Amino acid sequence: MEIRNVKKEDITEIRNIYSKSYIDEESGRPKDEDVDYFTKKVEDYVDQTKESLGSDYYYLVAENNTKVIGVIGTRKPHVRLLPLAKTDNSVELYSLFVLEKNLGVGKSLVNKIIEICRQKGYSEMMVLSANRWKESWPFYDKLGFERAGTITELSGRLSQVWTREL
Ligand SMILES: CC(C)(COP(=O)(O)OP(=O)(O)OC[C@H]1O[C@@H](n2cnc3c(N)ncnc32)[C@H](O)[C@@H]1OP(=O)(O)O)[C@@H](O)C(=O)NCCC(=O)NCCS
Repeated sequence: MEIRNVKKEDITEIRNIYSKSYIDEESGRPKDEDVDYFTKKVEDYVDQTKESLGSDYYYLVAENNTKVIGVIGTRKPHVRLLPLAKTDNSVELYSLFVLEKNLGVGKSLVNKIIEICRQKGYSEMMVLSANRWKESWPFYDKLGFERAGTITELSGRLSQVWTREL
């Protein structure tokens, strides 16, 4: 497995990973709105649009035998996270998804992006995870992230926030 920078040619496979992850519970079908939204973020990053540069988006993919099997990003922390930050030099881990779970791909992606963020000079990494991803929350605990608090969404559901010193 190789962890590398995202390329334009990866977009279709990244869309496929998002399509398998953003599923409407009632219909069992991909939530196109979410899939489009998150794929566009990666496209904007590849194209280095003004919006992407402004929020400092950055993406890596995991590749195995020429197939993209995972994606991870970072960006400037969303403003909602700032009250829970421990430093004024944090980066937000954003949009982590793997094609197949429990093969070590998620951990490899997180470790690589941590290494890069350290090199970039960040001293803290934050994560925000919505209630719908609750099953994955112990993954962040396991990788050394500390629960910093919760955020109440407009829906009334709680999102969890973590922080980790880099
Ligand atoms: C969360 C996610 C990225 C984890 O990636 P993964 O490749 O399945 O995780 P890994 O195989 O690298 O696991 C690393 C370690 O965490 C543990 N772990 C992984 N998922 C876990 C879970 N849901 N609960 C508890 N432990 C978990 C593994 O057992 C492993 O432990 P080990 O190092 O002792 O062997 C993946 O499950 C996923 O894509 N989930 C759906 C999307 C999602 O929830 N994304 C996060 C949105 S915020």
